[in-house]
Amino acid sequence: MAAERSDALVFFGATGDLAYKKVFPALQAMIRHGTLDMPVIGVAKAGWTVEQLKERARQSLAEHGGGVDPAAFAKLCSLLKYVDGDYGDAATFQKLKVILDGAKRPLHYLAIPPSMFGVVAEHLAKASCTTNARVVVEKPFGRDLASAVELNRILHSYFPESAIFRIDHYLGKEPVLNLVFFRFANPILEPVWNRHYIDCVQITMAEKFGVEGRGRFYEEAGAIRDVVQNHMIQLVAEIAMEPPAGRDAEAIRDEKIKVLKMMSPLAPADVVRGQFNGYRKEPGVAPQSTIETFAACRFAVNTWRWAGVPFYVRVGKCLPVTSTEVLIKFQGFPQPVLGEAPRWSNHLRFRLNPEVVLALSARAKVPGEELKGEEVELCARHQCPDEMEPYERLLGDAADGDQTLFTREDGVEAAWRVVDPVLGDAAPVHFYEPGTWGPTEADAVIDGHGPWHNPAAHEAAP
Ligand code: BG6
Repeated sequence: MAAERSDALVFFGATGDLAYKKVFPALQAMIRHGTLDMPVIGVAKAGWTVEQLKERARQSLAEHGGGVDPAAFAKLCSLLKYVDGDYGDAATFQKLKVILDGAKRPLHYLAIPPSMFGVVAEHLAKASCTTNARVVVEKPFGRDLASAVELNRILHSYFPESAIFRIDHYLGKEPVLNLVFFRFANPILEPVWNRHYIDCVQITMAEKFGVEGRGRFYEEAGAIRDVVQNHMIQLVAEIAMEPPAGRDAEAIRDEKIKVLKMMSPLAPADVVRGQFNGYRKEPGVAPQSTIETFAACRFAVNTWRWAGVPFYVRVGKCLPVTSTEVLIKFQGFPQPVLGEAPRWSNHLRFRLNPEVVLALSARAKVPGEELKGEEVELCARHQCPDEMEPYERLLGDAADGDQTLFTREDGVEAAWRVVDPVLGDAAPVHFYEPGTWGPTEADAVIDGHGPWHNPAAHEAAP
């Protein structure tokens, strides 16, 4: 039976950065697509009025929402309410209770630092705002395994697991959904999707930009906490998972979490950490900081299907391009034939951004007298001008009580278990110049299966 849709959306952190960049654009898109018709209550401590919040929403849509759609914006304004107050003050939650006006299934979205989750959840409960409610929490979910376990314990004091939605926005991306779909929709892949045919998997998440004023946050996080523990490990799980026993959230999450549980914890020798030159001069960054803005990791998935196949992940700021690609590298021939390139092998390439491309490489004969080969790619590109953004999809799913694209308690803990041994200064940090592919030491991580595949900045339409 389908769960009942939430009847009010409360978002904490209404005047913050995340609301500005992601939440208001998602709300406008939901209205345009006819999926938002409930009161939307912003909560923050800024001394603002609801009129100021509407103005903030307008600016957010102009800057990050693809422009203000007058009809959708008017509707948003008619739904928008605001509670100003401290998250530690019971009076804030009494005001919220009044403004909720008898809503029976509110969805509380905590777009606030994890250190505040406990206090907000407790006040929500004391003000009787948790009955039949759902709660959405942002990443990072904790800062290591111990703190994630503790956060889970706190949230479970007020909400059952079925009401907790841990966001990892990568899981709501259209091309990431396609990664799983493509795998299970194409029977030709099944016989080769394993250690007998695959040499290695490479994932690169390259970002051309630096920390963009988020120095203070980055000092607390670093690349491993920021994107490896969550976005990248989730991609590994999606590539390596077995077919789910059904279409429901638990069947799908069970398979992904099985992979996470079968991954070896990283050892310092599996990781190269890097920091771009100039990071230490960023506002909010310590002059002697050893936080990583780059990481190259070698993961092992110890299942029958994948034992011995390395999964390489490389992420970094200030790299030459902004692009994320997954490369499935197949094994080569045992020995060359027809004078062909001896170490050549086919690959499947999933380009997740900025363009969405699916490509299978092959070698074909160059036309002419000579028996000579060249690499070609059989390529499909998906262009969807009105593609659903992750936050629109995920907020809609949470309002419907659908947990498929959210991380489960045991999943988030399993992911922390994998990275826990390499957090902090477990491995030394190496420096790299902005605009390069990170420290040269990263080549050692991929030894024997290299070189790293470097995604291009842009791909012209064929
Ligand atoms: C966020 C990280 O979770 O993901 C950022 O905090 C990163 O550092 C971002 O830049 C990348 O996501 P997207 O969807 O913008 O590619």
